[in-house]
Amino acid sequence: MTPTHDQIEAALRTYRDPYLETDVVTAGMLKSIGDTTGSIAIELEAGFPLARYGATLRHELSQTLAVLSATPPPQINIATKIVSHAVQKGVKTLPGVKNTIAVASGKGGVGKSTTAANLALALRDEGASVGLLDADIYGPSQPRMLGCPGRPDSRDGKSMEPKESYGIQCISIGHLIEEDTPMIWRGPMATSALEQLLRETNWRALDYLIIDLPPGTGDIQLTLCQKVPLSGAIIVTTPQDIALLDARKGLKMFEKVEVPVLGIVENMSVHVCSNCGHAEHIFGAGGGASMATQYGVPLLGCLPLDIRIREGVDNGRPTVHTDPESSATQVYREIARRVTAKLALRAKDYSGRFPNIVIQKNS
Ligand SMILES: Nc1ncnc2c1ncn2[C@@H]1O[C@H](COP(=O)(O)OP(=O)(O)O)[C@@H](O)[C@H]1O
Ligand SMILES: [Mg+2]
Ligand SMILES: [Zn+2]
Repeated sequence: MTPTHDQIEAALRTYRDPYLETDVVTAGMLKSIGDTTGSIAIELEAGFPLARYGATLRHELSQTLAVLSATPPPQINIATKIVSHAVQKGVKTLPGVKNTIAVASGKGGVGKSTTAANLALALRDEGASVGLLDADIYGPSQPRMLGCPGRPDSRDGKSMEPKESYGIQCISIGHLIEEDTPMIWRGPMATSALEQLLRETNWRALDYLIIDLPPGTGDIQLTLCQKVPLSGAIIVTTPQDIALLDARKGLKMFEKVEVPVLGIVENMSVHVCSNCGHAEHIFGAGGGASMATQYGVPLLGCLPLDIRIREGVDNGRPTVHTDPESSATQVYREIARRVTAKLALRAKDYSGRFPNIVIQKNS
């Protein structure tokens, strides 16, 4: 029996994708249903990278379509097309960069940079072209975490070529200043240095640029979030009450500048003993989850306090790259999928494609 298009579409609607949190039809992924030589071909197009996840999604959808008893079973193809999403009104987007995602935290030391580096690698593994801008003027750490120290090249004496490590294009304030020279940054100076870093780097065809922001919610951070084009933001927190309090300020800051918060990452959630593997909530449990519920933002994932995560980034070998099958890596992959799937559902950037339209009311 050959099911009709309507039957296929209705069946597809019954599978809720865990990252999109909706079905593929509602998400606008269904491009066509073709049935040429008696076999049905379903063409889907995802707005997020799924080089790894695609096989799982295809399998789930095949299972879902099994109720239709089509013979032969429908062929499901999933292509990817990552588009540019809207940024704050009046902020210029970056040449060579489709989307920028800020990784922020209410205070330092919560694992913002660790999360940024591993997220970048997880996105790479899903097939995206990824860059990482280390904008943390107080403690630039990406040259060390991604293992790409040294000065960047310049071809014209004006602009910079990003460093490249593990396939990630990276530029850090740490590439330009000596690591052991403490710098006192005044607001305007910090902002202009970072804008320069961002705009004078020759980013090469990035789907996502991850920005490791300076920790906190002061004037420098606020100004940055107003001037730097951002498609979305992620807030990293530890589960302690005090850290959560600061993370809330982060949420408020992004609200003020109208940048959507794509979710919260709870880092150092549980301690996993390296001897016996037992897990202990040394900083309390469920803080990130309750904050997420309270503010209506997704909890993207919870990372354990795990010595292998620390040893990885502290030696320029992030977990996602060196330990691709570990449970921590799976969490980073989940975070990457949630973030990009959520972003894919948001408004596209039409700036420059439309003329200014003035609507006049007839009286
Ligand atoms: N989940 C984790 N488990 C163990 N150590 C971690 C974890 N996340 C971060 N760290 C370590 O904690 C320290 C602070 O992390 P970092 O990413 O530099 O924080 P931030 O950028 O927020 O200041 C680093 O030494 C890092 O290796
Ligand atoms: Mg940092
Ligand atoms: Zn133990």
